[in-house]
Amino acid sequence: MMICICRRLNETAVREAVRAGANCPDTVQAHHGCQFNCGKCKPAMAEVVACEQQRQTSELPLVAAE
Ligand code: FES
Repeated sequence: MMICICRRLNETAVREAVRAGANCPDTVQAHHGCQFNCGKCKPAMAEVVACEQQRQTSELPLVAAE
């Protein structure tokens, strides 16, 4: 699904940026060497960023506390 039409970033590109360390829409754009044009995609991009971060967190191994 296309997230940012202006910069042609789809959901996969946003998730890839998060896996590489991006933590907000601005850093996702920076990861791909661009910046916002109209900015209409910011809310949707923030949602994908949050979703990917949550997915990464849920994949962390559980460590028993002593
Ligand atoms: S849709 Fe992303 S900057 Fe316009």
